[in-house]
This record gives sequence, C-alpha cells and structure tokens, in this order.
Amino acid sequence: MTTDYNEIAEQFSANVDRMPGNRLYERPATIALLPPLKDIDVLDAGCGSGFYTDYAIKAGARVVAFDPSQGMIDQALARLGDARCELHCCQSSELRTAIGDRKFDLILSNLVMHYVRDLAPEFRYLAAALKPDGKIIVSMKHPIIHTAHVMKFGYRWVGLVSLNWPWAGGPVNHVQRPLGEITSAIYDAGLSIERMVEAEPLPEMERVDPSGYFFAKRFPFFIHFVLTHRRFAE
Ligand SMILES: C[S@@+](CC[C@H](N)C(=O)[O-])C[C@H]1O[C@@H](n2cnc3c(N)ncnc32)[C@H](O)[C@@H]1O
Repeated sequence: MTTDYNEIAEQFSANVDRMPGNRLYERPATIALLPPLKDIDVLDAGCGSGFYTDYAIKAGARVVAFDPSQGMIDQALARLGDARCELHCCQSSELRTAIGDRKFDLILSNLVMHYVRDLAPEFRYLAAALKPDGKIIVSMKHPIIHTAHVMKFGYRWVGLVSLNWPWAGGPVNHVQRPLGEITSAIYDAGLSIERMVEAEPLPEMERVDPSGYFFAKRFPFFIHFVLTHRRFAE
C-alpha cells in the first residue's frame, strides 16, 4: 500500500463527498456503468468511507465491503448506521480468510488501484471472488492525469507521485503507470475488458471548480473498466 489511510481517515471522509472530482466526475461516471442492483450480491473492494456501499444497499443489493484501513472502516460504519452490511478490515489477499469462497455478481473497485504497486495479484484476488457471469467495475487515475510527470519522465515511467491534499489532511502517494501496464495486469489475472471509458465531468463542475473542469475536459482524470472473466483463459 502506498498511502496509510488511517492517518487521514477522519478528514478525508469529512470532505470527500463534496469534492468536485468525486461528486461531479468519478461517481456519476461509475454510477452510469452500474447494472440494476436490486437483489444482487455486491463486493465493495476498498470501500473507504462507504459511499458505494451505502449506494448499493439503498438500491437493494446484498453488500459485503472491505478495506485495509480500520480508520476508513470506522468512517464507513458511521455513514452506514443501522444499514445491513458486512464490513471487513482486511487486504484483498486476506479476503478468502475473511469471507470464505463466496462469490459476487458485481465487484466495485473505485479509486483503489492507483494505490497498488503490484496490480496483477490484486486483480486476481478480485477475479477469484467473481461469479462466472459477474462483472468488476474499476475506476482509477488515468495514466495521463499527472501530465507534469509524463512530460518530465515520459509516458512509460512507472513510479510514485506524491500529492498534497490539504482537504484530506495529508499527502497521498499514487502509482503512475502507462495504460499497457494496467491492461497487462488485467489480462494476467484472467480477465477481459468489456468496456473502457474515459469519462467527462458533469457540466456542473465548471461552476464549482472552473480550473479542474478546464483541465478535466482536456485530459481525463479517471479511467473506468468493466471486466469479466476471460472466456478462453489458458
Ligand atoms: C480514495 S479511497 C476510495 C474509497 C471508495 N472506494 C470510494 O470510491 O469512495 C481509497 C481506499 O482504498 C483503500 N485501499 C488501499 N489499498 C487497497 C487495496 N490493496 N485493496 C483494497 N483497498 C485498498 C484505502 O484504505 C482507501 O480506503
């Protein structure tokens, strides 16, 4: 893990829902990809403070959620209140121990994969928890977003980008990598890309964050994938 979310859990969670990049960009783009959620089994992988867990429960899904940060799990518990949900504090590698061999119709991995150094095992843990006809929806930082690093080190550079997020209460470290590294990890995990989306922000973002909107219209902040099991995996 490249960032200890326990250190920033409280302040991050107090502010994330109002951040334009989340509220008016990443979240609507993810929600547009969701299948009907009523009565399906959903795994929220890296649930953080529980926005998608809460969303899926309210839409009628049976939800299991996990996150490696106890601080973030506590924030999710505070959001969820009495809502019926199973929450685990664990790494993806510990998922089997936490939940056994249960499988899910839909796995959500939102804004997690750019904290992960070794992507293929991470996708493999998710694939192992996916029903045969299930889907994984992933959102992560787009490889082009850190344009200064791309210009300085080149598009193929792989490394950590440290970002100062005063609103979240501290710095976070994101892994910068080219698209080919991401798609190779997906392939190596036995998964297929059904869709890849370079979403645009909602027009409302122009009013609340003009400079973010200007940039996001030119360079995508996020990339979304809809993944399935690869049918003819060797
Ligand atoms: C930016 S938050 C996103 C939370 C939530 N998915 C959302 O979209 O609101 C990133 C979360 O990923 C968690 N995380 C970091 N590495 C992880 C991993 N390998 N597996 C699952 N979660 C991880 C962090 O603890 C943190 O809660």
